[in-house]
Formats: sequence, C-alpha cells, structure tokens
Amino acid sequence: MSRRPSFRRSGSAPVARRLGVPRARRIAAALETWFAAQQRDLPWRRRTRSAAQQAYRCLVAEYMLHQTQVKRVLEYFDRFVSRFPDVRSLAAAPEQEVLVLWQGLGYYRRARHLHAAAKAIVRDHGGRVPSDVGELINLPGVGRYTAGAIASIAFGVKAPIVDGNVQRVLCRWFELGPPLKEREIEREVWRLAEALVGAGADAGAFNQALMELGSTICLPRGAKCERCPAAAWCRARIGGTVDRYPQARRRGETAVIHAASLVIERRGRVLLVQRPAKGLWAGMWQCPTLESPGVIESAALAEFVEREFGVAADLKAPAAQFTHQTSHRRIEFRVWRPGAFRGRVRGARWVCREDLGRFPLSSAQKRVLTSADGSA
Ligand code: ADE
Repeated sequence: MSRRPSFRRSGSAPVARRLGVPRARRIAAALETWFAAQQRDLPWRRRTRSAAQQAYRCLVAEYMLHQTQVKRVLEYFDRFVSRFPDVRSLAAAPEQEVLVLWQGLGYYRRARHLHAAAKAIVRDHGGRVPSDVGELINLPGVGRYTAGAIASIAFGVKAPIVDGNVQRVLCRWFELGPPLKEREIEREVWRLAEALVGAGADAGAFNQALMELGSTICLPRGAKCERCPAAAWCRARIGGTVDRYPQARRRGETAVIHAASLVIERRGRVLLVQRPAKGLWAGMWQCPTLESPGVIESAALAEFVEREFGVAADLKAPAAQFTHQTSHRRIEFRVWRPGAFRGRVRGARWVCREDLGRFPLSSAQKRVLTSADGSA
C-alpha cells in the first residue's frame, strides 16, 4: 500500500523541519523493523561477553570500514581482533605490527590513527571506548560520521550519521538535489538524519539500517526499489527520478606519479628500506624506490643509486612494469633488478624472503617483489 507522502517540495522551510515527528517516527520504525529481519551477519555485530569489548570491536570495524567495502573488511577484521582483542593490547603493540595486520587494506593512515586512538583511550578514558560524541570526535581519525556510528551502534546514543551511502538514500527519499547547492544538500541531509534517528527507538539499528540499505538495495546504479522498505514514501521512486541521484560529482584530476623500484638481492635476501614517517605509505617498507612526477630515465635512476648506495649499478631494461591505482593517484611502476650489487646501504635491511611477512609492505611493493621474478 503506497501512501502519498505529505511533505511538499514547495515552501521555503527545510525538509527536515517539514518532516514532522509522526512521519519521522513511522519512517524510523519501518527501517528498524526491516533491519531486524534483513541485517547481514557481520562479525562486529555479534554479541560478545562484555559491552566494553563490543564497543572496542565496533571502533575497529568503523576505522576499517571507512572508504572500504564490507567484503574487504571481512578478510581483515577477525585476524585483527584475535591478535588485539581489546583496547589495551592494541595500545601496547608496536606500530609495525599493527601495520602488518593492515597491509593490503589500504589507507594506512587509518591504522596509525586507530593505534593512536587506542593509546588515547587508555591514557584518557581508563581503557574504555567513550560513548560521548564530543569525546569520540577528539580521537585521532574520528570525524562526525565515525563518532556518530560508534556512539549509536555501541551505546545507543541518538547521534546521526551521514556518509556517501546515507546521503544517496536520503536525497532519494526527499528528492534533494539542484537547485540546492552541494553544501545546502549536505546540511539538509545531516538535519534529516538527526531528526530521523531522534525519532527512532534504537539508534544503532536505525543507523545501520540506513548503511545497509545504501549498500545492498539503494545502490548508485540499479537500485532494487522492489525490495526496499522505504518504497512507499521515497519521492524519487514515486516520481521516477531515482537515477538522478546522486548528482555526478566533479572529481579532481588523478595525479600521475612515476616510480622506479630496485629489487636488489644478495644470498637469498632482499634489500628493504623504510618510507618516511609522513605521506603515502608512511613508515612502511619497500624496495629502494625513486618517485617523480615525470618518467624516470635510467640515467636519473643510476644517479639515485649512486647517491643512495655509493655504487654504480648495472641498469638495463626494466624487468617489469605495472600501474598501481590508489584513490587519488595513478602510479606507473617500473621495476629493475640490478645485477652484481655491492653497495653499503644506510638504514636498510637485508630480509630473507620468508621473513617478508614481518614487514608492512603496500600491495604495490608486494607486486614489485613478485613482478621482478616474472611471476606477476
Ligand atoms: N559501513 C560503515 N560502518 C558500517 C557498519 N557498521 N556496518 C556496515 N557497513 C558499514
């Protein structure tokens, strides 16, 4: 039974103010009921022995899920919380060990932030994840979305959450788009999320229902409206405008970087150096690599080798090349295997191939190591 929604697009009051409490309550209740029946069984949703542990698992999951799909996170979550079962064990771990468990998941700054957050929770909150949004936002790497997610899911606080998925869902429900400016849409969506979560009975269930709806039903393309619990009041579905949301975003150009990596081996050991503490892949390990905005000619690479290692290297054609795509960069890798290499290397480690697992390496560097064998 589809009932025509009573809110109108005409009139200047923001949609959130015109929504009205009774309607907000009905919407929130419908979503919570749907979530109770349809939610996916995810490890961070399972009940654990203590509420403190549950909150810790929620914290880890939210850091991992930021900009990353549930499917990917499932490959990492259990291993991470088995090794670090609570805030204190994570806070006490060396950063390199945290990075090793994170390798392959990308956005490594999140791992460093999560580690720093665990330390701050031990120092400032007696080892218990805080429930207050203001305190959560003070943790490293936590923004309004993550604070709202942890406060609502772990503690039932009526805090709103808006990410790309939630924004799409709410823009469709209320047909929020131009002529409103992007900023105004975002402000309105936060207000709506706040009004709706406030009207619900279970903030954690409501917020997770919004996330779940956005990632399983209200998809950017090919929305499955026939299975949607919001179909009766979704203005975009009623008006046939679902595909107009989200509006295409103007994206900045992807930066292109060129990287020349040297796979240097001696008696079964490979030479690794650590990246600087700041920037892309900060603090992780790699084969010696020269990066440049332009194509790296072998003369420039030879100069780099001489400067870094004090020896002349025999650099013929690259052994391999591949493109590595990150969220904002395209990196064109070329890989060399200099023959007979005798340089002395400051700050570098000769590492047995079997021990590589103890060093955090980006996916790109794992590929560097295998591509030079001709196995990539
Ligand atoms: N995306 C971000 N947080 C999530 C959560 N708790 N469950 C599912 N997807 C999410």
